[in-house]
Amino acid sequence: MRLKSFQGRLAVVTGAGSGIGRALALDLARRGCRVAACDIQPEAVEGTVALAGGARGDRVRGYVFDVSDREAFFRHADMIKADFGQPANLIVNNAGVALGASVREMRWEDFEWLMGINFWGVCYGTQAFLPQLIESGDGHVVNVSSIYGMISGPLTSAYNAAKFGVRGYTESLRIEMRAEGLPVSVSCVHPGGIRTNIANSSRLATSRGPDQAEFSKWFERITLTTPAKAAAIIVDGIRRKRPRILVGPDAHVIDLMQRTLGIRYQWVAGALLNPLMYGKSKNAVAASPQPAPPAAAEKPATEAEAPRKRAAKAAKAAKPAAGSARAESGGVA
Ligand SMILES: NC(=O)c1ccc[n+]([C@@H]2O[C@H](COP(=O)([O-])OP(=O)(O)OC[C@H]3O[C@@H](n4cnc5c(N)ncnc54)[C@H](O)[C@@H]3O)[C@@H](O)[C@H]2O)c1
Repeated sequence: MRLKSFQGRLAVVTGAGSGIGRALALDLARRGCRVAACDIQPEAVEGTVALAGGARGDRVRGYVFDVSDREAFFRHADMIKADFGQPANLIVNNAGVALGASVREMRWEDFEWLMGINFWGVCYGTQAFLPQLIESGDGHVVNVSSIYGMISGPLTSAYNAAKFGVRGYTESLRIEMRAEGLPVSVSCVHPGGIRTNIANSSRLATSRGPDQAEFSKWFERITLTTPAKAAAIIVDGIRRKRPRILVGPDAHVIDLMQRTLGIRYQWVAGALLNPLMYGKSKNAVAASPQPAPPAAAEKPATEAEAPRKRAAKAAKAAKPAAGSARAESGGVA
């Protein structure tokens, strides 16, 4: 059954200092929700609270904590309930960051940083607020995944791992809530490209991909949807209690592509994304890499030897020249 009104409900939004999270906090406040706007950046949260302004000002309160800190998340869940004097009806686990790094080059500290926020932050938020959502009698968990929770791309393995993880975790939760007859709806959100700050604040740690400036420029070119439009689509999905909320025309195309092509989507994704992510110049890789045929003079490899030989050859070709690795650029803590 559709939600009739947001009036007087308590919504908790993480990553509410920028982009989709800020737009969602403002949209929900406009519809009469009481909003706990959470972010790791104090000035960003203050900005959101100020933008809510006027009569809605007292409906929106800011909270500063790191979603990858489990204890802090649980502490804030108690604090928010006490401050507003009611259990939360809605948790939107939206806070997220991006990382560009190949599996070969990825540093564990970058991988763990991303998983801490994009995956564990979502799980902590869900479990910290689940008791309140059940107590409210009409709760809703909204976890933000991505189109990268439906398909993978090059140099995004950590982001893909987190976003596929969010999708699996969220869909399982939905089945459980129904099986146990608990009053909690569950939605997984898959945005396409949304024009936010995420590219500027991403970590790029790769010798073969774009640098920060190239990446931000490319991101701006391919993003089709504004944060306000994204928020309106997500809020409509919440109202309709949709299990899966696709945001933007590109998200619909990718969903269709994945469903019709199955695993073969990788050929299309590679052909489209490799030139963009690896660049067209010296860093370029073939869109659809084919193993090179053995040279005429070369003794043909046996079936068992061939893959090993090809792998060794590819590794030799891919090895960057000494000193050519690009320094990590523009990361945020
Ligand atoms: N923008 C896109 O194209 C796009 C596409 C698909 C999915 N998403 C997802 O949407 C969500 C929102 O991203 P956005 O595009 O609005 O980005 P954004 O950078 O504009 O906003 C993200 C917010 O999260 C906050 N944040 C970062 N780390 C945090 C932490 N440890 N604890 C608390 N807050 C933290 C940031 O301070 C920032 O205010 C993310 O989960 C992102 O992965 C974005």
